[in-house]
Amino acid sequence: MIAPPTPASIAHAVHALQQGQLLGLPTETVYGLAADACNSKAVDQVFTRKGRPKGHPLIVHVVDAAAAMHFAAEVPDFAAQLMQAFWPGPLTVILPRRAGVADAAAGGHPTIGLRCPSHPVAQQLLQAALAAQPPVYGLAAPSANPFGRISPTSAAHVGDSLGEDLLILDGGDCRVGIESTIVDCTRSQPIILRPGAITASQIAQVTGCAACTGDQPADSAPAPHAPGTLTAHYAPNAKVRLMDGPAIQAALDVLGSDAGHIALYTRQRMRAADTVLQRRMPAQPEAAAQQLFRTLRELDAAGVALIWVETPPAGPAWDGVRDRLQRAAASN
Ligand code: TXA
Ligand code: MG
Repeated sequence: MIAPPTPASIAHAVHALQQGQLLGLPTETVYGLAADACNSKAVDQVFTRKGRPKGHPLIVHVVDAAAAMHFAAEVPDFAAQLMQAFWPGPLTVILPRRAGVADAAAGGHPTIGLRCPSHPVAQQLLQAALAAQPPVYGLAAPSANPFGRISPTSAAHVGDSLGEDLLILDGGDCRVGIESTIVDCTRSQPIILRPGAITASQIAQVTGCAACTGDQPADSAPAPHAPGTLTAHYAPNAKVRLMDGPAIQAALDVLGSDAGHIALYTRQRMRAADTVLQRRMPAQPEAAAQQLFRTLRELDAAGVALIWVETPPAGPAWDGVRDRLQRAAASN
């Protein structure tokens, strides 16, 4: 059931969370499938409903940095700087977890992923949840899609893939469109586990540390464990191929009118038969991110066998979009 966000629907949602029920939660990145992070039975249902393996920890959403301290055992200086600079917003920090808190959400890991979303509906809900008796300190919420599939950027996407019986607060279309940047803050310097709207250079600027990726561990400890950041992810039914623009054009020229089973997602319009479905990828990375999952869904719904996507430009501003497309292409 999709509900417009009103004081009454938010109060109802808080009550449902207190009862251990699940909720479709709008955030600025993608919609989440939320449960009270401290209710292990409710959290178990999130794993079941998503079809997600239990070892993959969930991000816990909190109203502010003070509420994060219910879950975090300690916050290194550079993590505090990141939270100060980018919260509320599309940044998740991985911190050492307070013993015995949110075990199920953390998948048994000694750490916890924390995020303070900026979406006004998420903020209102988190505030009301924290003020309730008994309080709900945080919401464990993975993206509200079946495991391995495309993340939802509208309330309707959530209902389509997880069922109409779920209570979904309608927060409109997501502004960012791809999931938060995840930064591991459990070691001596920030390590980006998943690229997103907040870029490596922004993180480096705020912390004064060169933020490296998970492939290049900053110290001798083993690489951080981000079980959900699997290579194959974000899979539409159609096969996704990433190619340079000229390679796509050359292949289309060869196929001619036989290209009807192919959809195109490119920055420039391609020469192709009229029957070929074409969508333009915006020239700006923020706009491309905002539309990415919706476009993949639309092309997939048209029933094509192949989606040919033009490789995004080089450069850190495109890291998030490139990452999601590479995973979508690796799925098939
Ligand atoms: O933008 C987002 O982050 C969205 C919205 C709903 O907030 N949420 C989201 O959650 O993308 P999910 O569960 O689909 O992705 C969570 C990622 C997974 O890759 C998981 O492995 C990683 O976060 N993660 C969560 N807790 C972790 C931890 N303690 N250590 C390492 N990785 C963690
Ligand atoms: Mg996800």
